[in-house]
Amino acid sequence: MNILITGTSSGIGEALALYFSNQEDTTVTWIERVDRKSGWNIIPFDLSYISKLETIFPLQSTYDVIILNAWVGYFDTFEEINSENNTETIHTNLLSNIELLRLLKKHNNIADRAMIITLWSQASKHFYVWWAVYQASKWWLRGFIGSLRKEWKQYRFYLIHPQIVATRFFRNTKDGVIPSHLPQTKKEDITEIINNILHWVKKYDWEIDC
Ligand SMILES: NC(=O)c1ccc[n+]([C@@H]2O[C@H](COP(=O)([O-])OP(=O)(O)OC[C@H]3O[C@@H](n4cnc5c(N)ncnc54)[C@H](OP(=O)(O)O)[C@@H]3O)[C@@H](O)[C@H]2O)c1
Repeated sequence: MNILITGTSSGIGEALALYFSNQEDTTVTWIERVDRKSGWNIIPFDLSYISKLETIFPLQSTYDVIILNAWVGYFDTFEEINSENNTETIHTNLLSNIELLRLLKKHNNIADRAMIITLWSQASKHFYVWWAVYQASKWWLRGFIGSLRKEWKQYRFYLIHPQIVATRFFRNTKDGVIPSHLPQTKKEDITEIINNILHWVKKYDWEIDC
């Protein structure tokens, strides 16, 4: 099985890449900004540079599983977040996924009956103060994936909605603190769900709360 994962330098993406790299008959391609683990199957690329994304093609593999995970977020009052950070958020969280899927398809890098799994958020269900542009990027992403799912019926799509996961997610908040009073999802829970999807252990709806 060939798996492609974006945003693998930390957090959920790294946990998934490490877990699946240790499985038999599975090859993981990691896309991350800086190649910090030389010798690994890593494509170093800054996903906010949408117009340069085609430079990583042609890719060697046809992917059975594509996990869209990379993200960035700036959490503050709307006035405090500058235009550059807003652009980076939309480019990384939304447009890079659109362009990556377009190019993978164009270059025949998506296997028949592939699974396309997107890390989304409980921010789909609630509105949070100081999260405006991050929430916009995730809502648009849901619209994109939800529609594409109807068009690309040959693939299976999943949106994973974690609650609070202890990662670097909150590094750009005012206090940088992970809000421990809110419901938590462990990285291992997400790994288990994706492992279950890949190996048909459990039947899931296409949107999965965890
Ligand atoms: N943690 C939570 O509470 C939570 C809750 C709901 C949903 N999620 C979702 O889960 C996913 C993973 O988040 P996480 O919590 O694991 O966060 P994380 O630890 O901050 O990981 C984000 C990853 O994305 C990468 N990335 C950011 N900008 C990039 C760029 N321009 N090009 C390439 N890679 C880039 C980061 O790389 P660098 O090291 O280079 O920055 C890092 O590897 C996200 O889609 C997030 O929205 C998280």
